[in-house]
Order: sequence, then structure tokens, then C-alpha cells
Amino acid sequence: MNLTKLEWWARFKKYYTVFPELGLALDLSRMNVNDVFFAAMEPQIQKAFADMAALEAGAIANPDEGRMVGHYWLRNPALAPTPEIRSEIEQTFAKIKVFSKKIHSGEIQGKGGPFKNFLIIGIGGSALGPQFVAQALGNPRKDKLKPFFFDNTDPDGMNRTLAAIGKKLDRTLCIVISKSGGTKETRNGMLVAQAAYEQAGLDFGQHAVAVTMFGSELDKYTLANRWIERFPMWDWVGGRTSELSAVGLLPAALQGLDIDGLIEGGRLADEATRKSNVTENPSALLSLAWYASGNGKGLKNMVVLPYKDRLELFSKYLQQLVMESLGKELDLNGQVVNQGLSVLGNKGSTDQHSYIQQLREGPNDFFATFIEVQKDQVGNPVYTEPDATSGDFLQGFFLGTRTALSDNHRESITITVNDVDAKVVGLLIALFERAVGFYASLVNINAYHQPGVEAGKKAAGNVLTLQREILTYLKANINQRHTVEEIAQAIGKPEEMETVFKILEHLAANKGRNIKKLKSANVFEAGYKMV
Ligand code: PA5
Repeated sequence: MNLTKLEWWARFKKYYTVFPELGLALDLSRMNVNDVFFAAMEPQIQKAFADMAALEAGAIANPDEGRMVGHYWLRNPALAPTPEIRSEIEQTFAKIKVFSKKIHSGEIQGKGGPFKNFLIIGIGGSALGPQFVAQALGNPRKDKLKPFFFDNTDPDGMNRTLAAIGKKLDRTLCIVISKSGGTKETRNGMLVAQAAYEQAGLDFGQHAVAVTMFGSELDKYTLANRWIERFPMWDWVGGRTSELSAVGLLPAALQGLDIDGLIEGGRLADEATRKSNVTENPSALLSLAWYASGNGKGLKNMVVLPYKDRLELFSKYLQQLVMESLGKELDLNGQVVNQGLSVLGNKGSTDQHSYIQQLREGPNDFFATFIEVQKDQVGNPVYTEPDATSGDFLQGFFLGTRTALSDNHRESITITVNDVDAKVVGLLIALFERAVGFYASLVNINAYHQPGVEAGKKAAGNVLTLQREILTYLKANINQRHTVEEIAQAIGKPEEMETVFKILEHLAANKGRNIKKLKSANVFEAGYKMV
């Protein structure tokens, strides 16, 4: 759009919507939307509202897994479809509060005394929400417990975290989070942590709690090993929408954050986004703006740019929420659609010094989502120039980038909030959860399953099985030299030579695996032997 400044002002007034009940404003003036588009999309968005109403009433909204989708009930248990579900939610929240009090008072403590840290062991939806909230709301000087995370199966990463905890392991509570209770990265993290506790002469179970579905592998392990406590996950809450379940609320409560505020923010956003008048519904507006930008095919990426350090992990959190939900090969009719909406981002103004150059001048393949926070600090500012503070510069850089993009026909959405507190964090989470749900209806896909994640897990399992076969063969032929091709043939997997090569190279690079690589002029003729 080539508009004069005054024409932009008129457009801004038309597409800048304030939601006073949320303390939030949404600006779509820099998106390619107009009255004709909204009118044309009215039947589709009304269908999305109907789908959402059915989902909230307990329909099987995740048909592939035959599951209800109930994260909205977490914010208002009275809406749960059965009294049992309502009471499970209420009891769990009450249990989180009672448990946190006992931890804070020292009634439950570690071998070294009252707990000072917690170590979350989880991945994906079982880590990203807690990480985002811990950073958004935490205050190292006030936090009741200091958060640490194992969110990968990288042993080096885990060792670095353990080193940071240092001698305080005996005052560190492990929170193992896995909905399924069978995720290998999380299981490995738990076993590495357990080994560290045992090495320090500590009973791991007496320093550990779990959040998982009752009856899962992890659940059984907690019972067999007399862990301190366990909190439920339910099959009707998806990993990436679990932040306002025990997955996110337990760590937040232990850190001393305002979990009632988080839930309240979610509840308020849910109420606002149930409205069937599009102009009054910020999640509907977001989903329609995404649709317009990418032509309903995800042709443009979303670059999330909060101008606030506390919200830095929101981009990462949204990456999973949006991409795992919307990135689907098939639509609900089984047609190949390869849908998705790519999300990247970090924070402003930092990113202005990395990729914003390309955003302004490179391929026009994205729209930005700015998050503007009006209150820039607690306490009095330092003036870095006459009449200007760092916070003024932060806003200046945000507005400057928005204008620079718009001048070059790059689209952007701006979400404005007053501050980053628990309520705002809860409502941002809920706002995007529902926008994702609406968008999924607009493009007719199931947002609540993740077959691609399962495929990756299965493929990793096959690699580990192959590794076991290789090691068994080498053990049976100790001290004998074999090439990759010989080993692959010998174990009856000639088609797997490439993976055999990668496994042997990895084993040979690591101490204690007893695999020696023998030099050769041709990399593919090198010999390997077990010593
Ligand atoms: O959102 C999801 O469903 C996934 O990202 C899961 O959260 C992730 O795979 C971890 O699963 P689990 O909580 O079962 O260990």
C-alpha cells in the first residue's frame, strides 16, 4: 500500500482495536486486510467459531487420536464437560498450591535443607511453556526457587546445568514432566540427573516429583521409587497447550509466581475470544490476518518480535504452538495440503542488528508480529540523552522498524500491552492458542495431533536399534578390523550403510565406547574395531 502519512493515520484508526477488558490493543493496519476480505471470510470464521464451541463442549476435536481438547477448561473448570474432569482440575490446582507451600516453608525439604532450586526435565510442550514463563515473570532476587532446565538429551548440556547447580543438588527439586511418560529425551535426562544425585549420596526419589498421565511408564517409576509427589496430566490436554495445567503451574508456583494471575489472564482472553463478532475477537482477527497474509497456505512466515527481554522466549514458545499445530500434510478430509505457518524470532531491538536487514530488503516472505510493552521498567529511569531513556529508545526502535518495513511493503501486526505480569502472560498464551485453533478450522486441519513428531521419535528408535546390532557384532568379533560396508553386510542391513557409517564415527569419537577407528586414505574404507 502506498499511503500518505495522513492516510496511514486513517487506516490505523480503522484497524487499531482496543480490548479494555484485556488491557490489550491489536493493530492490523499494516496487514493486507480490508472490508472486502473480512466480508468474504465471514462464513469461514463463523464455522471456526462453531468448531471451537463444539471443541469447548467436549467434542472429539482431535479425531486422529480420538481425543477431546480441553485446555480451555483449565481456565474455567466449570466449563468442563463432566463433573469428574472439573473436580480433577480443581483438585490438581489446590494440590499444587498446598505442595508449593510445603516446599516454601521447608515442611518438605531435600537432604541439604529447604529446597532452593528446581530442575525441570522435559522437552517440547513439557519445557517450552515453563521456560517462557520462568523468564517472563521471574526475578532472581525474589524467586522462591531458582529454575534450571534439562530440555534435551545432550549430555554436555546436562553437565553444564549440573555444574551450575553445583553443590546445591541436595537442595534442588527435580520436576520430571512428560505427558506420555515415555519420551526418551526426558527419560535420559531423568536417568542422568538420578546418577548425579546418587553420586552425591542422595536418594533421587526424595528429591523428585513428576507431572505425567496416571499409569504411564514414568508414573509407575515414581511409585516404584517412592518419589515425593506426582501431579496429573490428562489425555485431553496437548503438550503444546499445557502451560496452564500442572505442567506450567507447578513450576511457576514453586518459583513463587502468581499462578492465579496466569489463569485469570487465560480466562479473560478465553471470554473475549468466544465472541462471534469478528471485530470484537482478537484471536479471530489474528487468525484472519495470518490467512490473508499467506493466502491460507502459509506462504508467509511469521517473525515474532517482542520489544522486551522478558518476552524473548515467547517467539520460541509460539514456534512450537503454531508450527506443531498447523504444520500438517493432510487436511481433515485426508487430502494432501502441506499446511503450516513458519515462526521465527527473538526480540527487538537486538534482532535489528541481525536479520532485520533482510526483512526490509530481502524476499517479501514474512509478516512481523511486534509485541509492544508500554511500561518499560520498575523504578526511575536513567536518562541516556536529554529527555530520553533507554526505554524511549526501545520504543523508537520498534516504531522505526515498523515504519521501515511498512515503507517497503512488508506487513506487520502489533500487539500492545501495558506491562508483563502474570495476567498478561496468561492472556497472550490463551490469545494465540485460540488463534491457532481458528486458523486450523479456516484451513481445515487437525491442530491437535503431531504425527510428524511421532515419525521422528520412531526413526530415532530405529537408529538406536541399529547401533545395538553393530555393537553386538563388534563384541562378538573383538579386536577385529571391519569397514562400514562389511559391518552393514554382516548384520544383514546392507541398505543401512550410511547410518552405520554415522554411528561408527560417533562411537569412535567418544571416550569409553571402546570403538577404535583405524586410519585409511579413503574415508569410506577406514576400519573400526572394538578394543
Ligand atoms: O506438544 C506436544 O505434544 C509435544 O511437543 C510434546 O510436548 C513433546 O513431544 C513431549 O512429550 P511428553 O510430554 O509426552 O514427554
